[in-house]
Order: sequence, then C-alpha cells, then structure tokens
Amino acid sequence: FAYPMPVNEPVYGYAAGSAERKQLKKVVAELKKAEADIPMYIGAEEVRTGNKVALHPPHETAHTLGYFHEGNESHVKQAINAALAAKENWAAMPWEDRAHIFLKAADLLAGKYRYQINGATMLGQSKNAFQAEIDSACELIDFLRFNVHFLSEIYKQQPNSAPGMHNRMEWRPLEGFVLAVTPFNFTAIAGNLPTSAAMCGNVIVWKPAHTQIFAAQVFMRVLKEAGLPDGVINLIYVDGPVLGNVCFSHPDFAGVHFTGSTGVFNQMWKTIGENVGNYKVYPRIVGETGGKDFVLVHKSADVDATVTALVRGAFEFQGQKCSAASRAYLPSNIAQAIKDKLVAELKTMKMGSVEDFTNFMNAVIDEKAFDRIAKYIDAAKQSSDATIIAGGNYDKSKGYFIEPTVIETSNSKYVALCEEIFGPVLTVYVYDENKFEETIELVNTTSPYALTGSIIAQDRDAIVLATEKLRNAAGNFYINDKPTGAVVGQQPFGGARASGTNDKAGSMLNLYRWLSARTIKETF
Ligand code: ALA
Repeated sequence: FAYPMPVNEPVYGYAAGSAERKQLKKVVAELKKAEADIPMYIGAEEVRTGNKVALHPPHETAHTLGYFHEGNESHVKQAINAALAAKENWAAMPWEDRAHIFLKAADLLAGKYRYQINGATMLGQSKNAFQAEIDSACELIDFLRFNVHFLSEIYKQQPNSAPGMHNRMEWRPLEGFVLAVTPFNFTAIAGNLPTSAAMCGNVIVWKPAHTQIFAAQVFMRVLKEAGLPDGVINLIYVDGPVLGNVCFSHPDFAGVHFTGSTGVFNQMWKTIGENVGNYKVYPRIVGETGGKDFVLVHKSADVDATVTALVRGAFEFQGQKCSAASRAYLPSNIAQAIKDKLVAELKTMKMGSVEDFTNFMNAVIDEKAFDRIAKYIDAAKQSSDATIIAGGNYDKSKGYFIEPTVIETSNSKYVALCEEIFGPVLTVYVYDENKFEETIELVNTTSPYALTGSIIAQDRDAIVLATEKLRNAAGNFYINDKPTGAVVGQQPFGGARASGTNDKAGSMLNLYRWLSARTIKETF
C-alpha cells in the first residue's frame, strides 16, 4: 500500500487580534507558570533520578521553566536494553500499523498539541511565534507525513524475476539499536532524527540537547499518545561523553543519526572507527553538521531582493541555523546601496522576549553561545581588517541578547568570513564587480563547509556560471533567495564536505540509511 504524497501543513499566521494568537499566548503563559517536572522516558517507565537540572528561557534567565531529571551511564544502558527488548515486536509489526502511529502523531501536533509544542519551543529555545510555528508545528508534521509517503515508495520497490524463480526484497530494519543525537535549534530536526529511523522498524535511544528538552518531552508525550509502543524510542538526558562511552562500545550499536557540530561528529566517527570489529554490523553514520553559508551577489542583482535575503537569511532565529547566511560577497557597483539599506533595516528590528510578538530578534540559546559569538564581535572591534557596520552590542544581564551585527572586511581570509559563528553575525566582503569568476573561486575555497548558499543575480549567464562552478560548495543551492528555510518535500535538505553526509532529511535518501535489505530468491 502506497501512501500518497501529502501536502505541506498550512502555516498559522498568528495575526494581531486573531484567535490563534490569543490561544498561543494563553498556552505560553500556562507553560511558563507550570514548573514542569520532566522525566526521562525509558521503556514503559517515566524515570525521575532526582538529579534535577533547571531550565530557563534564554531571553529571561531569572525565570525557571521547570526541571529535567538528568541520567547517568546506567540510564543509557537501561535505554539500550529497553530498545532491544522492544525490537522484535516493532520490526514485526505490519508497516501500515507503524505508519499510522506517526500519522496520528502528526495529526495530534497539527491539532491538539500545536500550541503546546510551539509554546515550549518559544520558551525553551527563544524562538518567536512565527519561527516556532514553521519549525515545531509545520516542519515536524511534514517530516512525519512525508517520511511515511517516501518509505512506502521504498517498500514498493522489488527486483525482477525470471521464469522458474521469484525474487523479492525484504526491507529490514538494522540489526541492533540506533542512536539519535539531536540539536537545540530545530524542534523539527530533534523530532525527525529518532522518528525517521524508528519508522523503518528500528528502535532508538534519543538524546536531545539539554537546551531543547522542554519541547522534546512534549513531542515524546505526543508519540506515546499516538500509540508508540514502549521502548521503541527512549528519551534520555545525559552528557555526550557518557552517552558515547556506553553506546559506541556496545555490540548492538547499529547507527547514529546526528545533527550538531562538525567537531562532535568527527569525534563520533573516530570512536566508532576505533570500535569497528566489535559491532555485529557496520554502523550507519548519518550526520548534518556545520555551515558557513554564502550569499554571492552579482552586479546584476536587485538591491531590495538582496537585502531581504540577507536580513532573513542571516538573522531569523538569531542566525542559529546551520543554513544561516553568514558570509556575503557584494559587487562594488551596488555594495554601498546594499549596505545602506541593510543597516537601515537592522535599525528597525526589535529584540526582546518571545512573549512580545513584535520582536523579530530574541535571545541566543545559552551563555556558552553568547560568549562565543561576543568573542567574534570583540575581535572585529579590535581588528584592523574589520569594521562593524551594524549592531555590535550585546548584553546578558536579563537574557542572552546579541544585536544583529554586520562585520565588513576587505581580507578574504578574515576569521569571521571563514569560521562558523552560529549567531546573529553576518560578514560582508566587497569585490570588484568585474571579478565575478575569481570571487566564485573564493566562495568555493574559503570554508571547509558545503551546506547552503545563494546566488543573487538577474543575468542568466551569471546564474549558470555560479550554479555550475559552485556545484560542490552547497548541498542546498538557492537562486535569488535566502539560503535558509528548506521545506520538507520541496527542498530536501543536507550538505557535504564538512557539513555532513548529505543524506537529505525528509527524503528517500535518508530513509534508505535505516534499512538493511535482504534479497530472497525462490526457485520453482
Ligand atoms: N532546514 C533548515 C533550513 O533550511 C535548517 O533553514
């Protein structure tokens, strides 16, 4: 049975005075007051260790949202055991029954839990209502529904047979358990990594970033309510090294589905490599990591379109997107016009709490991120190679607020043009408008990453040239658009080089990684 291609979940607008906005505000206020006591979910158990860690909204650090119960090594072992115990039944369950659990979860998110998951994402991750809606409601719902469709397309695929025989493919899950390690910046990604592998019949140990637990546990409860059997996905809160020590030395480790930093992913590969030979199977290693995403502007570009791409691409969600526009190459003929308009736009941008829906900018995720980003800004203030042309101020007295900042440099190797900052900082470089080809080469070679990038141009030859020459510089390439905001089912997402294994979230490519097929031939 094939599930038809779904339509993307419609986005709520939360217009001023609308019933949607009133309802979301009400739920945010309730969540804020509730002092949630958040257990781990291992097998059938809600595990409360008593080792309580407080959660604070990044934009209001004096407030406590609630507490999660942190686990240790023994909880990782328990989670693996619970997963392995659930495996046989789950893998044997008819595919349609597995699919219906995830389709029901999508419907619960679209209806009953929409405001809850958005409210939790707003408060826990400091995303404004519009960004939370796109992420934790629409994108997560889309991942669930589209993956069911794509997986049904895979299951349909069967080999040829010749007279006297019949061949078939059995699309088995992996042998063992899959580890999902998920980031703070997208509730949708956090939800997709465990569920896409689970849908294929795998059992999962899921470790979210501590800073995303507030929304992660809402999704876990939605999955339970949708009928996910105990032990199929086990949600635990432990430190990365504790998790790695247990999982990567376990003989039943069958794969890791990861989104996070390149450094952590590299370390995982090494550790898994050191243990190879101790596993029953070669583990699947699937990761989406960092980016230093470019906007290359041609001399034929429209100035207004360029500024829109830069403002939205660089500063939505405080630039905390692996896909965020973080380096822009501006041609000399229109560079000043672009910079003037960009600086003027950023001056009008409001920053503050997510509870005020007129704030475009909110806080960055935590103190570590705040300090790291502030260092790049301070370095630019002191460098003779850089000038700050917008923003540059930051303040952590109430929350981790950093102004949207634009650094200009004339050094094509300047640090802020090369390194991932993962914050609201855009670095611009002005090039001689007649040196477009040389600048394409610069874009291609300046950073080790290859996640997303844009060409902004009206000249078709320039578009063709950039598209061809930058073939390997971005897994998601945009023409006359910002380099962010991939929609499930429309722009399958992922990058190569230091940006990951490019297994395209929300596509068949990703799902294939969680299957290990058996070919069966019967002769008559
Ligand atoms: N998928 C997200 C985007 O495209 C990260 O911006």
